This record gives sequence, structure tokens and C-alpha cells, in this order.
Amino acid sequence: MSERDPWRSVDAQPNARAMIAGLEARGATPAQIRLRARFLRFVPVRRGDRVLEVGCGSGVVLRDLSPRVGRGGAVVGVDVSREILATARRLCKTDRRITLRHAHGARLPFAPGGFDVALAMTVILHVAEPLAVVREMARVTRPGGRLGLQDQDFGMLGVTHPDREMTDHILRGVVHHLYEEPYSGRRLPGLLREAGLEHVRVRTDFFQDTTLEPWTKMFLERRAETAVRFGLIDAATAQKWLDGFTALVAAGGFVFTMTYFGAAGVKPAAARRAR
Ligand SMILES: C[S@@+](CC[C@H](N)C(=O)[O-])C[C@H]1O[C@@H](n2cnc3c(N)ncnc32)[C@H](O)[C@@H]1O
Repeated sequence: MSERDPWRSVDAQPNARAMIAGLEARGATPAQIRLRARFLRFVPVRRGDRVLEVGCGSGVVLRDLSPRVGRGGAVVGVDVSREILATARRLCKTDRRITLRHAHGARLPFAPGGFDVALAMTVILHVAEPLAVVREMARVTRPGGRLGLQDQDFGMLGVTHPDREMTDHILRGVVHHLYEEPYSGRRLPGLLREAGLEHVRVRTDFFQDTTLEPWTKMFLERRAETAVRFGLIDAATAQKWLDGFTALVAAGGFVFTMTYFGAAGVKPAAARRAR
């Protein structure tokens, strides 16, 4: 089931370029920009911090982080996809604070304790071994440093549509076929505690759209396409379902709400040596 999640192997996907374009479209959506800023304040990321982002994609978050850490700080992004990293290198090339590395989140090529903050944003949902990734993030963070995780939770997605039953059938059907843990968001605080983090806090936040922004439209179209691919519906039903949203927007009744869970914790100071 898990291998159906295209984010595990972007380089093997025929539509890798469209996936990368989707990340940039999401990144540029004003309500998503505000959502990320709220999360980075919550962690928090401060001036002068050395920050690691695991699963950095095309570098949307890295470019948010750079002005936040300022002149004395540094931002390092790692990703398993070479194609995505090539895009990130192009989009971040003028920023000397940003460094990119090819790496798997469960095997980070860094010495212990080198970062003040380690982040994974919309990544844990996609990885096969979430705890191994979080433990590895904790290893490379200094004692007293922070870990921040943020994920959507697809058990908590709300969207208006005239055909509610069909909407549930498509949205629930797709996520259960696609992801090993579609409710990843709500599990993040537990993962941090299991990895030994202290002072774990949770912040639930929302992306909301009432106008069918380009990224929301792309998201719903991708869900419809995937539902057809998995045999949940046929192509004509998919088109009819998508048309239902367009009609709602015209009538002023469109609401789309996606829930994001953020969790942050502190790496304990090194244990005192036993006497
Ligand atoms: C949905 S994208 C999120 C990108 C970025 N964090 C953002 O919010 O724009 C997920 C990213 O995680 C990467 N990824 C998936 N599994 C990974 C793993 N085990 N280690 C490192 N990166 C991984 C994918 O290649 C992809 O770039």
C-alpha cells in the first residue's frame, strides 16, 4: 500500500515535474505562507539558529527560514529526491545561507548535535519509518535544541460539495489507498515523546480557502485523478465531481479546510554522568 505514495519516490514518478510545481504553487499561496510562518514562530526558529529541514522539497521552507535565521544563522535542507534537489538548488542558488544535501531522513550525514533546530514539514506523513526519522533528527540536534514536525491530517479535511457521499467516497478512498497513515498529523506529538523529546507542545492549525485557489484546485484535481486510477470512480464521475466545486465557487458557497498539526519538543540536556 505504502509504495503507492508518490512522495516516497518522486524521481520514479512520470509526473515528477507536476509534483514539484504543486509544491511551489502551495508555497506561494498566501494562506499557506501565513500557516508556515505561524508554525516557525511556534517551534520557534530564532535569529542565529542553525536549522535543518528534512524532506525540504523544492526549498519553499528553506527560503522562509533564511531571513528568519539572519546573518549569523544557517539553513540546511536534505531530501531523497535528486530531481527535487536540482529544483531546490536552482531556486535557492542566490542564497548563501542555504546548503542542500542528498540524504534519507533516517540516515542523516551529520555529526551529533550540530543543529539548533530540526524540522520536517509535510514529510512524516510520507515516510515508511517515522520514528527512525524523528530519532535521527534528534541525534543531529544539540541538547536543548528544538524539533518541529508539521503534517496534514486527512481525517480532518472539510470541503463543501453538493454530493457529500461521493465527496467522502473519493477523499477517504484515496487517502486510505495512498498513505500508510493518513491521520499522521495527530500522531506527531506522540512520536516526539517516543523519540525522547521533552516539553512537547501541539498546535493545530488550518489552511482555509473559499475561492478555489490554484493550489486547492490542483489538489482536488489530483485527488479525482487518483480516484480514477485506483478504480474508485470513472472519469466521467470525476469530471462531474470537479464541476460541482466550480459551480459552488460561482454561487459563493465553496469552503475548503485542511487541518495541519504542528508539534514541537526540546532535546533533553545530556544526561549527567552517574557518580
Ligand atoms: C510533500 S513534500 C514537502 C516538501 C517541503 N517540506 C515543503 O513543505 O514544501 C515531501 C518531501 O519529502 C521528501 N521525502 C520523502 N521521504 C523522505 C525521506 N525518507 N527522507 C528525506 N526526504 C524524504 C520528498 O522527496 C519530498 O520532497
